[in-house]
Amino acid sequence: MQLSHFFQRRNNMVLGVDISAGGIKFLELSKKGARFRIESFAQEALPTGTVVDHEIKDIPALGSAIQRGVVRSATRLKNAAIALASSKVITKVIQMPDFLDEHQMETQIELEADRYVPYPRDEVNLDFQIMGTSREKTGKIDVLLAAARSENIQSRVSALSLANLATQVVDVEAYAIETAFNYLADHSQDESLNGPVAIVDIGREVTQLIILDNRKLIYTRELAFGGKQLTDKIKARYSLSDTQASTAHRGTGLPESYFDEVLAPFRQYIAGQIAKALQVYQVSTEHRRVGRILLAGGCATITGLNVVVERDLGLRTTIANPFANMEVAAGLNADHIAQEAPSFMVACGLALRSFD
Ligand SMILES: Nc1ncnc2c1ncn2[C@@H]1O[C@H](COP(=O)(O)OP(=O)(O)OP(=O)(O)O)[C@@H](O)[C@H]1O
Ligand SMILES: [Mg+2]
Repeated sequence: MQLSHFFQRRNNMVLGVDISAGGIKFLELSKKGARFRIESFAQEALPTGTVVDHEIKDIPALGSAIQRGVVRSATRLKNAAIALASSKVITKVIQMPDFLDEHQMETQIELEADRYVPYPRDEVNLDFQIMGTSREKTGKIDVLLAAARSENIQSRVSALSLANLATQVVDVEAYAIETAFNYLADHSQDESLNGPVAIVDIGREVTQLIILDNRKLIYTRELAFGGKQLTDKIKARYSLSDTQASTAHRGTGLPESYFDEVLAPFRQYIAGQIAKALQVYQVSTEHRRVGRILLAGGCATITGLNVVVERDLGLRTTIANPFANMEVAAGLNADHIAQEAPSFMVACGLALRSFD
């Protein structure tokens, strides 16, 4: 077992690189005074089979895709921040005596980690972050422990290095979303964002449910649905190829029947899945009930989805915009960036790590 400092950052600026099964997203931010600016922005598709179930199956293929994305983004950064899927990281808040120095703490954590991590010692990377005085026990501090299989980190680091990027930060997707959410909430007048909020990040194959209260992450679950199900329906119904179907979701070029017979049931299905997941959350925890929903991910912008979710769940539902109040560098396509914003929550949280 080795302490790898997942959460570590030095003073270098980092390129946010969000690697998913469907593709890679790249984001570079700069900051002037209190104002952020998008300096580079790119997406790069990944060949099927490169990333499966959050594991890198083909490092060279991922490396070349990263390389292409870096060129496309025109970034000059040489350091990257990446995230591991929340489902691949074991996290636990433990209590430690408040008189330990950092070195003693590391030793103690090494000893304790065995109790929490179900993998052989030499296959695991471990890190911790001190969260502050424990609310539960006096004389103790809360420490967030995070453990991940070294292989999951190493394969990403190797692919990035093929594109001449050094991995500076290894974060966790849910924490990256929390970071982006905090930026977004800071730039919003909406008081309800300080209460219990569910962020539903609907991607291609998976959906992340993340619940925050008081702006802090309190719950996370991975749900097995996403935009690929809509693509598959379109494909079967209108006899299209994968590529044609994956860009047809807005209905362009599809018969009128698409909206009522394919898209509407899919919206209904998603709303039902979200309702079910929130029910599971509510019966399994003692936390406060969710009062507000933010939709994120590529599917957040499905026409009318926020309206259906709001109506069916009876909770105010809006689309997350992590780029609210950000400037866009000259030469970038601001309209396109605005349209893609909800799917850049993770990338944004990673890019923001340059400034913490
Ligand atoms: N306007 C839209 N209407 C419907 N679906 C859309 C729209 N825009 C994007 N999508 C779908 O969103 C999905 C991609 O979302 P996103 O970029 O968040 O996924 P990802 O992060 O690559 O995937 P995952 O997180 O599952 O690994 C695709 O299935 C795409 O078809
Ligand atoms: Mg994603």
